[in-house]
Amino acid sequence: MKEEYSHCESMKGKTLVISGATRGIGKEILYRFAKAGADIAFTYNSNAEDAEKIAQDVKEKYGVRAIAYQLNILEPETYKDLFKLIDEDFLRVDYFVSNAIISGRSVVGGFGPFMRLKPKGLCNIYTATVTAFVIGAQEAARRMEKVGGGSIVSLSSTGNLVYTPNYAGHGTNKAAVETMVKYAAAELGEKGIRVNAVSGGPIDTDALKKFPNYEEVKAEVIKRSPLGRMGEAKDLAGMCWFLCTDECSWLTGQTIVIDGGTSFQ
Ligand SMILES: NC(=O)c1ccc[n+]([C@@H]2O[C@H](COP(=O)([O-])OP(=O)(O)OC[C@H]3O[C@@H](n4cnc5c(N)ncnc54)[C@H](OP(=O)(O)O)[C@@H]3O)[C@@H](O)[C@H]2O)c1
Repeated sequence: MKEEYSHCESMKGKTLVISGATRGIGKEILYRFAKAGADIAFTYNSNAEDAEKIAQDVKEKYGVRAIAYQLNILEPETYKDLFKLIDEDFLRVDYFVSNAIISGRSVVGGFGPFMRLKPKGLCNIYTATVTAFVIGAQEAARRMEKVGGGSIVSLSSTGNLVYTPNYAGHGTNKAAVETMVKYAAAELGEKGIRVNAVSGGPIDTDALKKFPNYEEVKAEVIKRSPLGRMGEAKDLAGMCWFLCTDECSWLTGQTIVIDGGTSFQ
């Protein structure tokens, strides 16, 4: 029994492609897969130095291949060039996690109260959340098909279930990506590819710290959660890894909500 379990857990010889793994949730997911023995192709946007440090660290700690590539999800078509580079460095693609998210100037008009929403900010969030997932998953699926299947995961958030101030732009696009996940799952299942979303409640990361009401959100989450604490990046990373194991071989088209029980309060 023990042998069977460790076999299921091992991702040795498999490759994960993940966007935005220099910090926060993406970084934690990268480490979770590396710990399971997977080789890692990951992206950064501006933090080339941190990305290089992470690649070196996982190589030393876990003896896996890890290579960082630059990617801007506001230009989703560039996923095609990224995957061509990955083809040169890795033999196969087994898992794809669409994790990167935009913030700062590019979300002006998309992150804010309803009456201040503007087309450019909203379009940017759609491009970076939904279109980037589509193009990245298409490229990944083409490679997965060649090795008999794979698993695709999109990060989502409970900002489409629970009112979160300023979050209308992100919340609506997370709802959209969850629906896109279902369509992808319905059409890629025949190729042995499963597609799911992991939706998190507020998790303590740089992204959340940029919320103007960060302290308020944090206090409210701790108050609402029956578990009495804020979410951590590893709470989502474990589920992303689990969804890519054979333990989930009949699980597709779903959104798994990890919110410390906050959405029902
Ligand atoms: N934090 C939360 O409360 C929470 C809750 C639920 C779900 N999520 C979801 O989890 C995912 C990760 O969130 P996070 O909180 O870990 O974010 P984060 O800490 O802000 O990290 C964002 C990542 O995306 C990259 N990135 C930024 N702009 C980019 C661009 N234009 N093109 C490509 N990559 C870009 C960053 O790379 P650089 O370091 O190079 O800039 C970084 O690796 C998101 O999909 C988010 O919606 C977050």
